[in-house]
Amino acid sequence: MSDDRLIVALDVPNVLAGMDLATRLGDAVSFYKIGLGMLTGGGLALANELKVEHGKKIFLDMKFFDIGATVEAAVRGVAQFDLDLLTVHGDPHVVRAAREGAAGSHMKILAVTILTSLDRDDLDASLIKAGNITDLVQERAGRALEAGADGVIASPQEAALIRALPEAKGKLIVTPGVRPVGTALGDQKRVATPAQAIADGVDHIVVGRPIWQAADPRAAALAITAEMASSQKS
Ligand code: C5P
Repeated sequence: MSDDRLIVALDVPNVLAGMDLATRLGDAVSFYKIGLGMLTGGGLALANELKVEHGKKIFLDMKFFDIGATVEAAVRGVAQFDLDLLTVHGDPHVVRAAREGAAGSHMKILAVTILTSLDRDDLDASLIKAGNITDLVQERAGRALEAGADGVIASPQEAALIRALPEAKGKLIVTPGVRPVGTALGDQKRVATPAQAIADGVDHIVVGRPIWQAADPRAAALAITAEMASSQKS
């Protein structure tokens, strides 16, 4: 019944709320994202429980960034839990260290290119080189993939451009900012529908509020799965 192209963002504060939601979703969802917001609420314990006790796939969204030795050690620690996806920032030295840390496990490393919350003024303030953000995102994606990332996180607007890169052949593209027709945008500004994202070559969509804020989260998840099924990759 479930389609693992749908990853549900468990953006709830703690393990109890996370397990409650996962129980309501049941077999409608097989893949969950757990992020930094749940770090102090038992996020890793929840990841482990969903994986081991319930057979779910887990995307741990930690966006690691540090010196290579520390990234490698952190990723090696996470790799012991046999999770499925882990994010790091897409700087090549970070990606190479993460690959070393993940060696021998099945966990895939996804690179973050430029956070979608940042605009050109933010990049200027951080002394990031000139150029429009889309070009920089493409360039960073290419470098991260060359450095060994198994895939990248991309906004719906960037997905097709990244899919067209030669370095992206056979690599994963995972996309947040997905909104089924008729649902609230929240703070997401550049959105796509599940069907559009899949048509643009996305492998997994990450959806949070349209599911966990829904009156019937299970029905919301099943509607998204049905919409993806109706779309073909271009
Ligand atoms: O509730 P919503 O569907 O907007 O949740 C999307 C999830 O993807 C959240 O966990 C959010 O932190 C994450 N995310 C995002 N945009 C990014 C990177 C991650 O929305 N650029």
